[in-house]
Amino acid sequence: MNDILDAIFQRRAVKVFEPAEISDVLREKILNAARHAPSSFNGQPYRFYWVGSAAKKAAVAKLCMGQSPAETASALVVVVADIGSMAATTRGQLEWMRASNFSQEKIRDYERTAKIGRILFMPGPFGIFAALKSAIFRLLNLWMTIGMPPLFRQDLFKWATKSTSLACQNLMIAAEALGVNTCPMEGFDGRRLSQYLGLSHRYHEIVMVIAIGKKSHDYVQPPQWRRPLQTTVTVL
Ligand SMILES: Cc1cc2nc3c(=O)[nH]c(=O)nc-3n(C[C@H](O)[C@H](O)[C@H](O)COP(=O)(O)O)c2cc1C
Repeated sequence: MNDILDAIFQRRAVKVFEPAEISDVLREKILNAARHAPSSFNGQPYRFYWVGSAAKKAAVAKLCMGQSPAETASALVVVVADIGSMAATTRGQLEWMRASNFSQEKIRDYERTAKIGRILFMPGPFGIFAALKSAIFRLLNLWMTIGMPPLFRQDLFKWATKSTSLACQNLMIAAEALGVNTCPMEGFDGRRLSQYLGLSHRYHEIVMVIAIGKKSHDYVQPPQWRRPLQTTVTVL
């Protein structure tokens, strides 16, 4: 457990990396740790684009506005919230449940929940279903305790971004624990980078790009500042 805390406290956003090879084994370990993050409904609504080849890395770094972490990294991971992955994820989990001999009752329960989720999460053409569901939920909420599900496409992206961000943090902590450094970046041209990766604006939103590599010996890390604990915490 102390190792985890060490990795959390040691991690910094590194702005200059030195050339270093990231082996396939190391890449797999880092990505595997990322996908073990918790996600809403276990939906894992994300995709990682690992950009490691020199030419593609240079192209993506340019779309990260040529920032030095991007230009000097050994690899860039473009992390995408993917709201189009839900049906495939449900199918995958069902296959896994059947292969793992879950009881018929558990499988039916899961199918039912997934179906309700699909109906709730479907915004419909021009957000018509979402508007209707939003009105119904608001009305119900007048006399019932009820959580508002993500209804409109933007809500769905917000929903997916939460789980995607947790996966990003897992990725960065795992990288640190495995001896490589990172820098999360949201300074990129989202439209051009989406185009470069062939993403669909209906289903995909780039959450961040994570630069990975070994911190340069010449890079002097500035001191780390955080707001005092009491200004960020309310104990009730
Ligand atoms: C969502 C997000 C976006 C960020 N975008 C950038 C960026 O575009 N360029 C950059 O150099 N650093 C970026 N950072 C790194 C922050 O500047 C850094 O995490 C913060 O200053 C705290 O420093 P520390 O991570 O070393 O503790 C980003 C961090 C986060 C979480």
